[in-house]
Amino acid sequence: MQLIDGKKTSQAVKLEIAEAVKKMIASGKKKPHLAAVLVGNDGGSETYVAAKIKACEAVGFVSSLVRFTADVTENELLAAVNKLNNDPDVDGFIVQLPLPKHISEEKITEAIDPSKDVDGFHPQNLGRMITGGDAFISATPQGIMELLKRYDIETKGKHVVILGRSNIVGRPMSILLSLKGNPGDATVTVCHSRTKNLKEICLQADIIVAAIGIPEFLKADMVKEGAVVIDVGTTRVPSTETKSGFRLKGDVDFAEVSPKCSFITPVPGGVGPMTIVSLLLNTLKAAAKR
Ligand code: GUN
Repeated sequence: MQLIDGKKTSQAVKLEIAEAVKKMIASGKKKPHLAAVLVGNDGGSETYVAAKIKACEAVGFVSSLVRFTADVTENELLAAVNKLNNDPDVDGFIVQLPLPKHISEEKITEAIDPSKDVDGFHPQNLGRMITGGDAFISATPQGIMELLKRYDIETKGKHVVILGRSNIVGRPMSILLSLKGNPGDATVTVCHSRTKNLKEICLQADIIVAAIGIPEFLKADMVKEGAVVIDVGTTRVPSTETKSGFRLKGDVDFAEVSPKCSFITPVPGGVGPMTIVSLLLNTLKAAAKR
């Protein structure tokens, strides 16, 4: 069994990005600039946005944070999006989700200029991803593709079983892996809460992507010997052993599944660290295009 080390890989990608930034500056271009919009003070969102800003600093990007209280109106937020769309200094930006209930996430997402949509959530980017065109791919799917590529994991002709059909992980993964290319060219089965005979389907998988958000859902008796297992789960469970009072649990029962795998991602330290790196890669791409 080989561990897919997302932490190490993300550090290597960050060094590559930092090098690319140095070259951009040397050629007279400005530093890439990522802006983040944060509404309210949800603990998870605060943590994610702080991590994104820290990552920007580490690779030499400029970052900025636009904050609103939770009672911001939809129109005020739309105006902020519009301002960022028209700010020539900003290469890409994200609006951290979830948003308060009185604001339509769909409306806000669709208001973002697709050429600055480094989250890849705008329908234009989603549509271009489906056709295999030039698009910003959202962070988690792109991070997984990067891990598959860098660990030279063969996907061509393989049977990939995806657990979960979410718009931000399961569905885009099913599309990316079935597209022509490397990684890609796979035969993909998407499983969800209504799927029958889940265990039998999982046992046929060469590669399993677990993204259902149920801690330790995937057990050893659902995994074929030699399979590749990608764990996207990040459920916070209470813990007395950490300073924060919680720890992350994946969707895979790592202790019993890992001995059967050829490759497996741990939680934490697998897919997670790659997501922020994907956002940085998208911002670099947006800046290069400007
Ligand atoms: N909330 C949880 N994940 C994400 C993400 O990747 N982007 C944004 N904008 N919000 C999120």
